[in-house]
Amino acid sequence: MNSPENQSTLTKSVQNLAIVTGASAGIGLVYAQELARQGYSLALCARRVDNLEKLKEELESLYGVQVYTEKVDLLDKAARRRFYQRATKDSKPQLLVNNAGFGSVSKFAETNIERELDMVSLNCQALLDLSHMTFADMREQRSGSIINVASIAAHQPITYMTTYAATKAFVHSFSQALAAEAQDFNVHVMSHCPGPTESEFHLVSGLPEKMNHLPSMTALEVVRQALQAQKGQNWVCINGLKNKFLALTGKVTPGPIAARITKRVLAENVNSKK
Ligand SMILES: NC(=O)c1ccc[n+]([C@@H]2O[C@H](COP(=O)([O-])OP(=O)(O)OC[C@H]3O[C@@H](n4cnc5c(N)ncnc54)[C@H](OP(=O)(O)O)[C@@H]3O)[C@@H](O)[C@H]2O)c1
Repeated sequence: MNSPENQSTLTKSVQNLAIVTGASAGIGLVYAQELARQGYSLALCARRVDNLEKLKEELESLYGVQVYTEKVDLLDKAARRRFYQRATKDSKPQLLVNNAGFGSVSKFAETNIERELDMVSLNCQALLDLSHMTFADMREQRSGSIINVASIAAHQPITYMTTYAATKAFVHSFSQALAAEAQDFNVHVMSHCPGPTESEFHLVSGLPEKMNHLPSMTALEVVRQALQAQKGQNWVCINGLKNKFLALTGKVTPGPIAARITKRVLAENVNSKK
């Protein structure tokens, strides 16, 4: 059970509530900043509660919005459900940004399997669970929007980022199918596919040094484009022209060929015991 010092409260009901997961760093933190700037009150979660508290102070003083924060490990099913119940006790959400996630680069046989299982659990199961709770409320109120952060990695198999690309393919497919169901209830769902973006992702995911120097977009560019696409009711937002082209290539390239190409590209970046 979460202790009271690890959570703050929404003191009164709010009109415009947005929930952002993984708001302590990177893309999620910028989503929180941009949404507060647009006047949303926020419910934010992550494990690093100090970062959330700092962000809460900043956003409340800059924009006069209410910010609820809670230390949550989203791998814990009971904890993420409690977070949703607490965050929405007085106000139902208008927006959910399922952002928390991580990746890895490794030969599959040499991978840390516990971490891979956690990746599937965070990137897919937690996102699915939060989407389900939120969609039920949005369906009832006949309004709302869900942004699921997938990746450019969703658009083809990626050898040596095998599990990560598969989790993001799940998010991308799930989001589009849900978007079709949701539109009957005036609920919008979007799959957000950033390419390489400046954040802590590369560090956390243990990406090799060389891959850290891939041309990246800033989290601010990525989030502003996504929120623009969300306003336009798009079902998919792929950031940047180069990434749009890559996604298109992924679509027309047979999976076995894409897997062989990515194997060649990433081979020199993975450590091998051989
Ligand atoms: N950066 C890129 O190049 C890139 C490209 C495409 C897609 N994406 C996707 O964008 C999303 C955000 O990534 P990012 O680039 O912003 O990475 P990041 O800087 O590492 O941020 C990840 C966020 O997720 C939170 N998180 C991780 N594990 C968690 C857990 N078990 N429970 C709760 N929160 C957890 C982290 O907070 P705590 O550590 O405090 O818990 C952090 O706030 C991810 O879904 C990622 O796959 C990133």
